[in-house]
Amino acid sequence: AALCVCFTYGDDYILDDKLGLGRTFDGIGGLSGGGATSRLLVNYAEPYRSQILDYLFKPNFGASLHILKVEIGGDAQTTDGTEPSHMHYENDENYFRGYEWWLMKEAKKRNPNITLIGLPWAFPGWIGHEKSWPYDFPDITAKYVVSWIVGAKQYHDLDIHYIGIWNEKKYDLNYIKVLRDTLDRVGFSHIAIIAADGYKPDDWQIASDMLAEPLLFDLIDVIGAHYPGTETVMDALKTGKALWASEDFSTYNDDVGGGCWARLLNQNYVNGRMTATISWNLLASYYERLPFGRDGLMTAQEPWSGNYVVESPIWTTAHTTQFTQPGWSYLQTVGHLKSGGSYVALTDRRGNLTVVIETMTHNDSVCIRPPLPPYDVTPCNVTFYLKGSFASISQLQVWRTKFDFKTKKHVFLQKLDSVKVSDGSFTLRLDVDEVYTLSTITTAQKGTHPDPPPSAPFPKLYEDDFNVRNPSFTEAPHFADQTGVFEYFKNLTDPGPHVYTLRQVVTQRPVTWATDANQAISVIGDYSWRNIVVTSDVFIEKPGTGGVFIAARADRGGSGVQGCRGVFFWVFADGTYRVTRDLMGKSVLAEGKSGTSSSIWYTLSLAVKERNATVTLDGTSLWDGGVDWVPKYGWAAIGTASFELAQFDNFSVEAE
Ligand code: GAL
Ligand code: CA
Repeated sequence: AALCVCFTYGDDYILDDKLGLGRTFDGIGGLSGGGATSRLLVNYAEPYRSQILDYLFKPNFGASLHILKVEIGGDAQTTDGTEPSHMHYENDENYFRGYEWWLMKEAKKRNPNITLIGLPWAFPGWIGHEKSWPYDFPDITAKYVVSWIVGAKQYHDLDIHYIGIWNEKKYDLNYIKVLRDTLDRVGFSHIAIIAADGYKPDDWQIASDMLAEPLLFDLIDVIGAHYPGTETVMDALKTGKALWASEDFSTYNDDVGGGCWARLLNQNYVNGRMTATISWNLLASYYERLPFGRDGLMTAQEPWSGNYVVESPIWTTAHTTQFTQPGWSYLQTVGHLKSGGSYVALTDRRGNLTVVIETMTHNDSVCIRPPLPPYDVTPCNVTFYLKGSFASISQLQVWRTKFDFKTKKHVFLQKLDSVKVSDGSFTLRLDVDEVYTLSTITTAQKGTHPDPPPSAPFPKLYEDDFNVRNPSFTEAPHFADQTGVFEYFKNLTDPGPHVYTLRQVVTQRPVTWATDANQAISVIGDYSWRNIVVTSDVFIEKPGTGGVFIAARADRGGSGVQGCRGVFFWVFADGTYRVTRDLMGKSVLAEGKSGTSSSIWYTLSLAVKERNATVTLDGTSLWDGGVDWVPKYGWAAIGTASFELAQFDNFSVEAE
């Protein structure tokens, strides 16, 4: 590690615009999706749901984000669940599925100037015409993506500002060209294209490709790289295009996570000249035992209790977002502090100045990836000299965050006395693990809402009859789809007791991003449930090979869902049943005749207690026996034997 120097009289830095400015700042943002990371938020009762949204988006309050990036749902697993497509089938169009539309509107309500970005991770199967590949029919894919943008405008009055290609997958020059043409043809020539949202080692590859291919160069407005570790490459700088960390962070949101984020927000510009940084994810609002639990700017994973936690990344975001806006310019005089840490400075070119300084030490600011080489930080007096148009500034607001990992008594975004600038300079005593903002901006605030209710586990008794006439969301509370999509459904033809149900609607394997299971599955409840009774009415729609299941102790979701284990009770349209230890249905505990068929409602029940299970069909026991080599605990679940239509009703769980 380089030795830090802090001279006896301190170190000097100059903030000056005489020789021109640096790059234009594009904003700090959060990413909802990739996937299903906001799933539980929608089920929060008011006022808590609005309070959470305030901490994220309200200007001069909390994170006050400039950018919201969302997944364009593709009916497939994209990390923590599936998000529904606006076109499940070729002839289907619906712009009211899922929660991203709603989220974008809530963000815009709070910040009308928020920048909106859409990016697909996966696509419904019909896009690929039997192949898990979206580029063979570029017109179809482009039309599908542009329909989403048109739908945003038409049904929600949302203007999408940037559109991406295919998250962390290969891009295709011809597709990008067709996408550009399609956008232009419908009057969206102002919508910019980001590419390629690549991940190491391909994070900046597209920059070199752009230099080699003039057409590609012209088509791409912003080069977005993922988890660049604050660094860029020569070719990216050579393009002269805007460079963004279009996905970054993904770090557990404790205080080291807050430190990671503070370091990234400064050093993505200082080291990599990146002018926007977007956090995966916006809000940790999915079951914590799904992959990358709590990797959001704050946590809202308990809609049943109303509890949420404003974590430290919210406040380290505020140090930048509340004091500058997209369109401001970085100064050329930004850099590292000799004693360790970094500083950036920005101006609105009308006299305002914002300086953000961070002195996060290595161990208190490591992010999930890439590895962070060692470095030192030491306390130091620093003197900043204001020159050029800043020479006349006489006073700066001062806000400070102090991480204290020894006492855990951190201080987040505290307003200190403003500093007087005398003789064109000011001096600060910097300790380690601090973030300072010095600014002419006077509107910043540390927003607060009353404390939310205390944390509580998922209710032990839970039931849902899905009898909602006009649901505000297409998904039933707390069900977290891991393959397939489960939607509220109304049986128009069935006058019986099952008018309102929950229906699995994905009928074809999507153009996947992760490895979805071959079965649809939605999990619900508490991962620590061991002894539970799961009951549901079920309705197989697919004759012959169709089938459905209910499950207990489902131990895995996310990109690993294929390998989900637990106790699964299946009935099939061919008149059989099965009890298995796995979602794949390979490890069979019991099987036999059930007399079940399609298009008839049955009531299934599965009771798992310690090392035993009982399964019943319409109240009659089908099997009862030992369940060895199954997980000790896990969620309850429902699902289908393949990508097929099926319905569920009167779902209930009773946990011990
Ligand atoms: C990214 C991906 C996200 C999420 C994240 C987890 O590479 O785009 O969807 O999976 O990793 O760290
Ligand atoms: Ca019902």
